[in-house]
Amino acid sequence: MSIQLNHTIVAARDKHASANFLAELLDLPAPKPFGPFLVVETANEVSLDFMDVDGDVTSQHYAFLVGEDEFDAIFERIQRWHLHYWADPGHTRPNEINTNDGGRGLYFNDPNGHNMEIITRPYGG
Ligand SMILES: [Fe+2]
Repeated sequence: MSIQLNHTIVAARDKHASANFLAELLDLPAPKPFGPFLVVETANEVSLDFMDVDGDVTSQHYAFLVGEDEFDAIFERIQRWHLHYWADPGHTRPNEINTNDGGRGLYFNDPNGHNMEIITRPYGG
């Protein structure tokens, strides 16, 4: 198949804070400036291009498929940074992770209120 998601724009009140938050939490390479964006690239070369916007940021959902070791490391940072996390996308199960699809997953908010997710197995996997 020759069609792949390549990049998406992530609205931010402070693109530097937001891009660095995500890159440091997920242990991804440091964000790179490109035009008005700060670009965070993932291992499958899909990039999140953070862009400053005025006013309210509408919450979007971004999910990251991570390895078991990466999950451990990210979860450790979430706890060390005292971030809130939930087992479900509606944030009704605080301080829990889920074991959906035989893997592990959790949700957390980025500094703009975007609903971020890490999973070790794809949905239905
Ligand atoms: Fe999701």
